[in-house]
Amino acid sequence: MDSRIPKITVPLLGQMKAAGERLTMLTAYDWTFARLFDQAGVDLLLVGDSLGMVVQGLENTLPVTLDEMVYHTRLVARGRRRALVVGDLPFGSYQSSPQQAVESAVRLVKEGGAEAVKLEGGTTMAATIEAIASRDIPVMGHVGLTPQSVHRMGGHKVQGRKHGSAPGGRGRVLADARAVEAAGAFAVVLEGIPVDLAAEITAELAIPTIGIGAGMRCDGQVLVLHDLLGLSERAPRFAKQYADVGRQVVEAAEAYVREVRAGVFPTDAHAFHVPIAVAAGGVK
Ligand code: KIV
Repeated sequence: MDSRIPKITVPLLGQMKAAGERLTMLTAYDWTFARLFDQAGVDLLLVGDSLGMVVQGLENTLPVTLDEMVYHTRLVARGRRRALVVGDLPFGSYQSSPQQAVESAVRLVKEGGAEAVKLEGGTTMAATIEAIASRDIPVMGHVGLTPQSVHRMGGHKVQGRKHGSAPGGRGRVLADARAVEAAGAFAVVLEGIPVDLAAEITAELAIPTIGIGAGMRCDGQVLVLHDLLGLSERAPRFAKQYADVGRQVVEAAEAYVREVRAGVFPTDAHAFHVPIAVAAGGVK
């Protein structure tokens, strides 16, 4: 690692917000992409439970298990040098009790190598965030459109558009963000909320806000790997595609199929030969 580039740590992230530096986070699910994103200077690698949808092909994130998250977190942690690795707590691994949440968070850190964990929810999760953070495991909150609440929301829908303190209301999203900070989270993801609400939360909170579908006035941004690289079947409207890797993959595989069928690959350059002396029985 370039010694002039400091390792990203939880305290450093707070200092970066205070200094007005924007934070970058991408999801990663394996060693290869963790290594490449780290090399690119991404600050945080999130092992998101979005892997249920983009890696496993599920309809939502609910079936993802803690064992699966531990496994993928371990792969990502192995590829990280500078970035901070955050492991997502999947649905069912922290909702039962703060005790269950601490045990799950410990697994992500101890077995997966995460440096922090993320969980969804605000006011109702305050005691849980407090319990994990009090064991010195840094917690990232996640409010607004929380994918694990897909059934309550009636789909992956923008939150905070209506006034009120009922779940999904603007007042509730604000209260959730405040509760996450008060409970001891070091940062919070704001997903799928109006720009002005995200700006209000960002201005009020001392901890960094990291937006996805929350506009440009957050302290940082996060994108899902597959949306960034053009690997998604359908990318959400708020995402920006920075490369068309999906097309390149198909073109490369098509070229391979053509060449193998035509006998063009492999050539002699890709083949091994027995040294002449060995072939003649002269070398042991
Ligand atoms: O699981 C995930 O990838 C996430 C991001 C979308 C923030 O939670």
